Amino acid sequence: MFSQHLKKETVVSIINTIGELNQLQDVDMILDSTLREARALAKADAGSIFLMKNGELEFRHVQNDTIFGANGGGLFQYGTESLPVSDSSIVGYCALTKEMVVINDAYVIAEGLPYRFNASFDEKNGYRTVSILAVPLVSRGHSLVGVMQLINAKNRWGRATVFSEQVKTLVPIFTNNAAALIERSILNRDLTLRMAKMAELHDPKETGAHVQRVSAFCAELYQCWAENRNLPRLDIRRFRDIISHASMLHDAGKVGIPDSILKKPGRLTHEEFDVMKQHTIYGSRLFNSISSELDQVTHDIILYHHERWNGTGYPKGLVGEQIPLAARITALADVFDALSSKRSYKEAWSDEMIYEELRKESGQHFDPELVETFFQITNILHAIQMKFK
Ligand code: C2E
Ligand code: SIN
Ligand code: SIN
Ligand code: FE
Ligand code: FE
Repeated sequence: MFSQHLKKETVVSIINTIGELNQLQDVDMILDSTLREARALAKADAGSIFLMKNGELEFRHVQNDTIFGANGGGLFQYGTESLPVSDSSIVGYCALTKEMVVINDAYVIAEGLPYRFNASFDEKNGYRTVSILAVPLVSRGHSLVGVMQLINAKNRWGRATVFSEQVKTLVPIFTNNAAALIERSILNRDLTLRMAKMAELHDPKETGAHVQRVSAFCAELYQCWAENRNLPRLDIRRFRDIISHASMLHDAGKVGIPDSILKKPGRLTHEEFDVMKQHTIYGSRLFNSISSELDQVTHDIILYHHERWNGTGYPKGLVGEQIPLAARITALADVFDALSSKRSYKEAWSDEMIYEELRKESGQHFDPELVETFFQITNILHAIQMKFK
């Protein structure tokens, strides 16, 4: 009776969670929620997700209650590790066979098995991995999206134990649904990224690294700003998801700027810069018909990311909090990235010069509260720069 009751509740909670995941747009938030919910279902202390990219398994997400606490991995999300799809690692073997791999003790893997446990994370962080459940993320029954690894099932005293039979049955039901959503969100992000790359320099070979850095900077700046203000956790998750997707399109209007100006190797003349300024207005027209909060925020970012806190920006000369928050955040992220990158018209600046500039422009170009937020998370911002070079 008791276990029947528990199962029904669990199934209802899986259905509700899938519904919630459906509201999210961006792949990072979907990975975060998927891992969080799978861990809750399995009572796992830790977990990670690898996604298939260019034939390899790219490390994408990690949570570990013992090491990082409930707020997740912070700069650890921006790791750059990749694994081959091969039987030499647990995750690789899981991807190769598309079968769940169950390990009761990572340090006692049977002789005949091809893979070994990689203890480098444990050694670096003073962690002890015991049980592992590696689950293939398979979308619509065939395509392999990636692998999720759950680590250290906890018993009622919080000690690591083996994963139960019930968990081994339920987790794949959950992850099969989640895999389809992850796949959709990757397609969605790739499509937006393609649009952004085309606009940036009229060049399909553009790597999109600038856009991906600005997007990640915006997500982290917003989250820290919102946590400083003690906003509700669910509101933070929702808006972080929106801003990380919308900010990729901040320069979408550059698609309407002639090559002679957009790709000019030197400084722009006054007239050329007036043309360039139109990219805010051109881009915002793509989002004039607004049917969702994502559209609204995308519109605001595109139109207002060159406004300045003191009212001297363009296109409207809005002042202070008249400028939507998402646009104030994107302004800071965009300039930080422009200064730290080499452009056809300028060299990259050193960190010291950039920090000095941002301090000087606090309350002038930028929202002073956001400049303070920036200096709280420079370590995460640097991890993002390393990941998207
Ligand atoms: P972007 O290169 O992505 O730069 C975004 C913003 O970063 C600029 O907005 C500006 O606020 C800041 N920024 C970039 N480089 C510098 C710099 O060397 N010093 C300072 N203090 N700030 C910098 P802004 O000025 O409204 O320019 C918008 C876009 O117009 C730029 O986007 C770029 O695509 C283009 N642009 C601006 N000036 C020039 C130029 O002299 N030559 C060329 N070829 N393009 C330019
Ligand atoms: C979306 O991503 O779902 C719509 C906005 C866009 O074109 O990126
Ligand atoms: C950019 O806006 O990303 C590049 C502009 C330039 O190199 O002139
Ligand atoms: Fe711009
Ligand atoms: Fe930009």
